[in-house]
Amino acid sequence: MSLLSRFYYFVSLLSVVSCSVTVYTNLNPFLTGTANPAFQTAICIGAVPCDGNVLNPIPNPSLNGGQFAIQLYSGGMTGMGIPVSGSFLGFSIELSVSNAVLGNNGNTLNPIFLNLMANMQARAGKTLVRVGGNSQESATVVPSGLPNNTAIEKPQVGTDRTFTPVLLISPNLIYAMGNISTLVNVEWFIGLPFNDTSNPRTTLAEIAQSVLGKNLIGMQLGNEPDLYTTNQLRNSSYTVQDYTVEWGQVLQDYQQDSKVPNTDIFVAPSICCGLSGNGWMPEQVWDTGFLTQYGNNLAYIAVEHYPTNNCNDTGPLDPEQQMPQFFLNHSAVIELSQPYANTSQIAAQMNKPFIMFETNTASCGGFSGLSDSFVSALWTIDYALNMASFNFSNALLHVGGQSDYYNPFTPPTTNQTSYRQWSIGPTYYAALVVAEALGPTGDAQVLDLGLNNRNDLTPGYVIYEQGNPTRVVLINSLTDPSGASNYTALISVGGNNTGQPGATPATVTVKYLLAPSATDKWNITWGGQTFGGPFASDGRLTGDLQTYTVTCDQTNNVCPITVPAPAVAVVFLTPESFANSQGSATVTFETTIATAVHNKHGYRQSDGPRKVKRPRRTIFPRIRINESR
Ligand SMILES: *[C@@H]1O[C@H](CO)[C@@H](O)[C@H](O)[C@H]1NC(C)=O
Ligand SMILES: *[C@@H]1O[C@H](CO)[C@@H](O)[C@H](O)[C@H]1NC(C)=O
Ligand SMILES: *[C@@H]1O[C@H](CO)[C@@H](O)[C@H](O)[C@H]1NC(C)=O
Ligand SMILES: *[C@@H]1O[C@H](CO)[C@@H](O)[C@H](O)[C@H]1NC(C)=O
Ligand SMILES: *[C@@H]1O[C@H](CO)[C@@H](O)[C@H](O)[C@H]1NC(C)=O
Ligand SMILES: *[C@@H]1O[C@H](CO)[C@@H](O)[C@H](O)[C@H]1NC(C)=O
Ligand SMILES: *[C@@H]1O[C@H](CO)[C@@H](O)[C@H](O)[C@H]1NC(C)=O
Ligand SMILES: *[C@@H]1O[C@H](CO)[C@@H](O)[C@H](O)[C@H]1NC(C)=O
Ligand SMILES: *[C@@H]1O[C@H](CO)[C@@H](O)[C@H](O)[C@H]1NC(C)=O
Ligand SMILES: *[C@@H]1O[C@H](CO)[C@@H](O)[C@H](O)[C@H]1NC(C)=O
Ligand SMILES: *[C@@H]1O[C@H](CO)[C@@H](O)[C@H](O)[C@H]1NC(C)=O
Ligand SMILES: *[C@@H]1O[C@H](CO)[C@@H](O)[C@H](O)[C@H]1NC(C)=O
Repeated sequence: MSLLSRFYYFVSLLSVVSCSVTVYTNLNPFLTGTANPAFQTAICIGAVPCDGNVLNPIPNPSLNGGQFAIQLYSGGMTGMGIPVSGSFLGFSIELSVSNAVLGNNGNTLNPIFLNLMANMQARAGKTLVRVGGNSQESATVVPSGLPNNTAIEKPQVGTDRTFTPVLLISPNLIYAMGNISTLVNVEWFIGLPFNDTSNPRTTLAEIAQSVLGKNLIGMQLGNEPDLYTTNQLRNSSYTVQDYTVEWGQVLQDYQQDSKVPNTDIFVAPSICCGLSGNGWMPEQVWDTGFLTQYGNNLAYIAVEHYPTNNCNDTGPLDPEQQMPQFFLNHSAVIELSQPYANTSQIAAQMNKPFIMFETNTASCGGFSGLSDSFVSALWTIDYALNMASFNFSNALLHVGGQSDYYNPFTPPTTNQTSYRQWSIGPTYYAALVVAEALGPTGDAQVLDLGLNNRNDLTPGYVIYEQGNPTRVVLINSLTDPSGASNYTALISVGGNNTGQPGATPATVTVKYLLAPSATDKWNITWGGQTFGGPFASDGRLTGDLQTYTVTCDQTNNVCPITVPAPAVAVVFLTPESFANSQGSATVTFETTIATAVHNKHGYRQSDGPRKVKRPRRTIFPRIRINESR
């Protein structure tokens, strides 16, 4: 996280999305193939789809034979986290770009977004999505709506460094959110402004409560207040005590607004940066009496944090160096969770969920070649399961604009939506893997196995449900096409010297997240299925689902699971745990875009006919909902 640059980034984020998107003239080789006439004439816009930079994978240390024993016990194991659900990992969408993701009103929803949410719902039952971020501080609702059928407008006020970001919001944005929840099970957090205590602007909360009803599960008041001075939203004498006093003042404004009936679903304090040395630690906020004064008004206790940043205008950090230090490094992941253990206990004692409200690989857009490659999927899975083992109840992956490398999914720019689909990033695959690893029951308790003598490159986790081990997640962060760095996990349940009868199952089902290398960008598959390359996805997985059945040795009570380099293996120890995670039939949403491309240019991005694994109950040919205003 950085200092002043963070403010300039904030400003540039807002301008970036309105006018000065990075335009890439050097097309990704993927896009220049002769098979693709449409892309040869259209310019490529967007960091994720257009940046061709591929990092060198880290060198391979020896895994010394690569056989690691895992002993599981019936009845649970010491150190498991609190019960969580497959909806543990949700998404946080920057308010200023949210209309490009969600749609501009309740009648023109984005079918690709609906499919992405339906994928999560099939595995986890529901998804949590926050609409907010730095840009929420300058938000003002225009109750009569905005011109040109847009849900968000960013008028320029002032120039250069005195530029004051202003974000105008149409109620149509909230109608889009409401209508999304009638089609897929999305529960919402909304970010409310806190930039000006004398002008609290409660209208956004009024509309959100009235339109979203029970699907509004939290209202975030104040975003990263520990950076308010840095971001010039407060002066240099702003303290954590001032924040606590102001929060109470604005809470009162909401309590006195009869159109905001529910004032017990706030989310706070959303501080980010004590760990990075330029913000507040949670304990500093708790020591002001924040939780005793406002605990009853909180639905969630929230923090935000990114492990590193790309905010430095004068010289970016080197992603090749960041990769082994922060991302392919389980110890570094533990160091992100450990400092919050005290707060997760405080939250549990208050019976409040504790949420990592905004995270991703690196603030200020992430790093080229790192945030948009398989590394980020490996890291996200490790970090999410680690947070679950440290008693976080949820975490939200941030989605920003076209210039951001870390986006789980990126729509094309508005003027290219008629012939391009979305670019699905590695962290969206990670979200599916985590959803399946935890499943929909809400009983998943995660334990870090300390696999391979706590090796930083081969973390592993077990998931218990109701006292029984149901899934094991095995990560291999090495890159070695020779196969010499594959490892084999030897899973035993009971038996051996545990004093428990051997309970290793006769067979287990294994699903792999695979890529040719840790720094690969577009050849990621989950269970053999893919969202394809840049601009290629309509939000549905394509290809045949591929799972492996491994026969275990019940005589010796051991089940050998091979984990290639690189890969993440999810081992389903019971047929029920597999069936639950694969979900039931879900609605999918056809786009007209693929057809348009097909008709106009004779080109369709998915390979061959789409194979549908699960019966589709309902197909919405186009999203059209009758307006009933
Ligand atoms: C359990 O026993 C099997 C068979 O002897 C062995 O392969 C495995 O490594 C043992 N597991 C542990 C955790 O010691
Ligand atoms: C759907 O959107 C329309 C138009 O914006 C709106 O009138 C209607 O209230 C919305 N429905 C729901 C359930 O939010
Ligand atoms: C807060 O944001 C509003 C809306 O963008 C803006 O008009 C106002 O000047 C801001 N106030 C402060 C103190 O930053
Ligand atoms: C609305 O669109 C028209 C035509 O593209 C443009 O000239 C006008 O400036 C837009 N108005 C606003 C407020 O953005
Ligand atoms: C900062 O703002 C506060 C509240 O508006 C004010 O009381 C204080 O004097 C200001 N401090 C500085 C250094 O400007
Ligand atoms: C946990 O936080 C509370 C509140 O700030 C503090 O009093 C306590 O000392 C902390 N405990 C640890 C172990 O850090
Ligand atoms: C920004 O980058 C420059 C040049 O690489 C470096 O010297 C400086 O320490 C960096 N600043 C921060 C805050 O990371
Ligand atoms: C991994 O993280 C730990 C903890 O921060 C650190 O001590 C170690 O040097 C890191 N490993 C690498 C290869 O950078
Ligand atoms: C998580 O919560 C469980 C149950 O309350 C507790 O036993 C465990 O120590 C907690 N873990 C951490 C890392 O605080
Ligand atoms: C499409 O929009 C981008 C910014 O969103 C702009 O840079 C580009 O010039 C536009 N292209 C056309 C053909 O209008
Ligand atoms: C390593 O894993 C890959 C991918 O599953 C497989 O093709 C290869 O045969 C394995 N190699 C060895 C030596 O086990
Ligand atoms: C990645 O996928 C593309 C298209 O399917 C294929 O042409 C290419 O050979 C693959 N690259 C690797 C390294 O597997």
